[in-house]
Amino acid sequence: MTLDNCKKLAGIKAADLIEDGMLVGIGTGSTVFFFIERLIERCKEGLSISAVSSSERSTKQAKEGGIVFKDINTITKIDLTVDGADEIDHTGRMIKGGGGALLREKILASTSTSTIIIVDETKTCEKLGKQKLPVEIVPFGIDATIYKINQQGYKGVVRKNSDGSIYYTDNDNIIYDIYFEHLLEEPEADHLKLINIPGVVETGFFFNLAKKVIIAFEDGHIEERN
Ligand code: 5RP
Repeated sequence: MTLDNCKKLAGIKAADLIEDGMLVGIGTGSTVFFFIERLIERCKEGLSISAVSSSERSTKQAKEGGIVFKDINTITKIDLTVDGADEIDHTGRMIKGGGGALLREKILASTSTSTIIIVDETKTCEKLGKQKLPVEIVPFGIDATIYKINQQGYKGVVRKNSDGSIYYTDNDNIIYDIYFEHLLEEPEADHLKLINIPGVVETGFFFNLAKKVIIAFEDGHIEERN
């Protein structure tokens, strides 16, 4: 089974868990793409839900498929959010933000009664840190903020688009992608060091936010971790 087929399997599995009447949080990424496709199908078959999403991209796809949206600024609780991850360890700690939507993703997940993470088997790990850690920072004083991040011992690069221009998030912020030299023993400590730097809006570390993890394997089987 190809990686895309694994992502599709996980996406479909999560979409089939959505129930009538739910306010659904829709994440971002190539795995969530398949979740949205199946959710659109289910809505066409009669499922009645409303949604909010963590990116313009996902919003566009879902709205074009006919999914009804609520104004994110008028809700205080989401029933269930479905999102992907770049890395997830066996305790559910994650690195997210590969698609640049980490801040909105964290707002959705922390507003949700329940969050389901959908991944293919390549995303699971013993320890976090093999993947880059996206850190969202405000453009004001960018060099000073990056200097402070570097002073804490972290090295990285400002994320760019394929044409070489600076990548801006949906919140008009910049992403500084940190690359670790070692796997992380205590990612919570790294998060604290980074989030305390003025100018850092959010890190891609997600702790205690995954209620259920759906992992799709290349041989076609699915594992659910609660
Ligand atoms: C976007 C994210 C995504 O959930 C994460 O990057 C996984 O994406 P994909 O399913 O494409 O591998 O955090 O900001």
